[in-house]
Amino acid sequence: MPESFEVSMAGDEKYYVPDQSYKEQAWTKDYAQSYKEFLADKTGFWENQAQQLEWFKKWDKVLEWNYPYAKWFVNAKLNITHNCLDRHVNNHRRNKVALVWRGEEGEERIFTYKKLFHEVCRFANGLKKLGVTKGDRVCIYMPLVPEQVIAMLACARIGAVHSVVFGGFGVNALNMRINDAEAKIVITADVTIRRGKTIPLKTIVEEAIINSPSVEKVVVLSREVDQPVELHKELEIDYYELMEGVSAECTPEVMDAEDPLFILYTSGSTGTPKGIVHTCGGYMVGTYYTTLNVFDVKDNDVYWCTADTGWITGHSYVVYGPFAVGATVVLAEAVPDYPDAGAFWKIVEDLGITIFYTAPTTIRMFMRVGEEWPNKYDLSSLRILGSVGEPLNPEAFEWYYRVIGKNHCPVVDTWWQTETGMQMITTMIGEPMRPGFAGKSLPGVVADVVDKRGAPVAPGNGGFLVMRDPWPAMLRTVYKNDERYKTYWNTIPGCYMAGDLAVKGKDGNIMIIGRADDIIITAGHNIGTAEVESALVSHQAVAEAAVIGKPDPLKGNLIKAFVILRVGFQPSEKLKSDLIYHVRMTLGPIAMPSEIEFMDKLPKTRSGKIMRRVLKAKEMGIDPGDVSTLEE
Ligand code: WT7
Repeated sequence: MPESFEVSMAGDEKYYVPDQSYKEQAWTKDYAQSYKEFLADKTGFWENQAQQLEWFKKWDKVLEWNYPYAKWFVNAKLNITHNCLDRHVNNHRRNKVALVWRGEEGEERIFTYKKLFHEVCRFANGLKKLGVTKGDRVCIYMPLVPEQVIAMLACARIGAVHSVVFGGFGVNALNMRINDAEAKIVITADVTIRRGKTIPLKTIVEEAIINSPSVEKVVVLSREVDQPVELHKELEIDYYELMEGVSAECTPEVMDAEDPLFILYTSGSTGTPKGIVHTCGGYMVGTYYTTLNVFDVKDNDVYWCTADTGWITGHSYVVYGPFAVGATVVLAEAVPDYPDAGAFWKIVEDLGITIFYTAPTTIRMFMRVGEEWPNKYDLSSLRILGSVGEPLNPEAFEWYYRVIGKNHCPVVDTWWQTETGMQMITTMIGEPMRPGFAGKSLPGVVADVVDKRGAPVAPGNGGFLVMRDPWPAMLRTVYKNDERYKTYWNTIPGCYMAGDLAVKGKDGNIMIIGRADDIIITAGHNIGTAEVESALVSHQAVAEAAVIGKPDPLKGNLIKAFVILRVGFQPSEKLKSDLIYHVRMTLGPIAMPSEIEFMDKLPKTRSGKIMRRVLKAKEMGIDPGDVSTLEE
C-alpha cells in the first residue's frame, strides 16, 4: 500500500448549487456554522441531539472514551422502539402513515403509526411466548415485507438482539451467521418474490440449520402465493398463529444505552464475516440525527429508501432512523426493471415520493435504459435525492441531478459503512455539490484523509480515510472477536481506519476512491474475496482460487475468479457455469463471479500469499507496481 499518493484532478472544479430556499427551510441551515458549534463543544453537540428523544433515564455522562472503547450516554436507559413508535402514537402522529408497502404487481399495504405499534407489540408478545428474553439472539431471514420490519422492532421491544440476514444469501452464508450468533429463533417466510417468480426461503433455512444446535424454533410467515406451507410441528410455527390471543400492548424492555441492539454481519478481508455489534443509545441518536438533518425530513415528506432491510442501509435508513423521526416510509419489494424499467418511477408518481435514496449501480442501470422511462412519469414530488454504497461517479451524479431531480433537487451522496452505523460524510442540503466527491464530515463527525502514520495528507492528495473521534453510532465490537474490532483502531495510530482510499480536495471535499483491502463492492454490496475463494475451493474440481474486483461501468466492480483445477479436471465452459452455480448455492446470487479464468499458476509471494493486485493489474492492463516479493 502506498504511504499516500498524489492525484491529478483533471477537469474544472464544477459545483452545483441548489436553490437557497432549500437551505432556508432546512433543519441544518448553515453547515459551516453547525460544524463550528460542534468543534466548540463536541459532546455538547451530541447531547443536544439526544435531548430531542425520550429516555427512561438520562445519562450521567455523554461520552466515556477509553481508546479504542467508547461508551455513549453512560447509564442512560431507553428503548429505541419507544422513540420509533410510542412517542408518535402518544402525540399528533398517532394516525400518520408510518409504512406503505408495495409489491411487484402494485399491491399495497398501509400501516399507521398506531397500527404498526400494535403489530410490533403483538409479535413481541409472540416472541415472549417462545421464551425469547433480553439478550437472546434472533435471526431474521425474510423478504422485504412489513413483517420483516415488525420482527426487527419486536426484537428491539423485548431487548432481543436481532441478526438480520439478507434474503439473497445462500445456505452456507446463512448457516455461518446463525451459528456465530447462536441464534435461538429464526424468523423466515415461505417464499420471496422476484420478477414475478417465487423463490423458496424456508427450504434454505431447513438446510442451513441442520447443524445449528442453538436454534429452538423457526417462525414461518406464509405469504399464501403458492401452495400452503407444510410446517414441521416440533420445530416450526406459523407467524400468525404465534400472535393469536396475545395482547396488542407490550411494555418495552428497559435497555441500557450500551446494551446491544443488533448484530449485522459484514465481509472482512479474511474468510469469515464479522458480526458488527451496535448498541441501543448511541445508534438511536446517530440515526435519528442523520435522518433528520441529511434528508431534512419534514412531517409531510414521503420517504423511500430502496435498500433491503437486510443491509445496514435498511437498518438505519428504512427502519430505525426514519421511524425515530416519525417519517412516512415506503417499503417496496420491487426491482428497478420489473415489470418494466419504469417500475421505480411509477412508485414515485403513485405515492408522491419526496425523498428518494438509492445506490449508484441502480442509477447507472437507469442511465443505460434511457431517459424515456423516468420521463413517462410525474416526478415533481421529489425534493431530495440520496446515494449510498459506492462512489457516485460524476456522470451518474449529473444524470441523477438532471433527469430525476430536474436540475433542482439536492443530491446527498452519503458515505458510511455497516461499522459506522450512520452517515458520516456528505454534502448537506443547500451546500454546493461537487460531482465525484461525497462531501465533508457531517457536524458531529471528524473524518480525514491521512498517510500510514496518521498524518493528514496535503489538500489535493490521497491516502486512507479515517475518523479521528468516536461517534455515537459506531460499532462497539465484533461479536465474539474483539481482536478484530481492535484492528479498526490500531492500524493507523489514533484513528479509526475505514478501509477506503480517498482524496482530499483543496476545497475540503472528500472523494472516495474505493476499498484499500480485499473487499469488493459489487452493485453496492460488500463481498470479501476470501469468502468467494473459499466457496470456490469447496468445489471438488478446484485446487486453488483467487478472486478480484474488476472495474465495471454498471456494477462498479464485478467479481472475477482465477481458478487452478485439481488433477483430473479439464477446463470447459460447462465447468465454469458449474462453479458459478456452486458459489450461488453456497453464498447466494450476490457473490456469483461474472467471469472465471482457468490458470496453471497464480502469482504468489515467496511466503505463499496470492498477490491479487498483480492479477488485477494484468486484468486492467496496468503496471502491477512493486513485484519484488513475487515468487520467481
Ligand atoms: C463501504 C461500506 C453504508 C451503506 C452501504 C454499504 C463503500 C459506501 C459510499 C459512498 C463511496 C461508499 C465504501 C465503504 N461506500 N458509501 N457514498 N461513496 N463509497 O455499507 O456494506 O458496510 O460497505 O461501501 O467503500 O467502506 P457496507
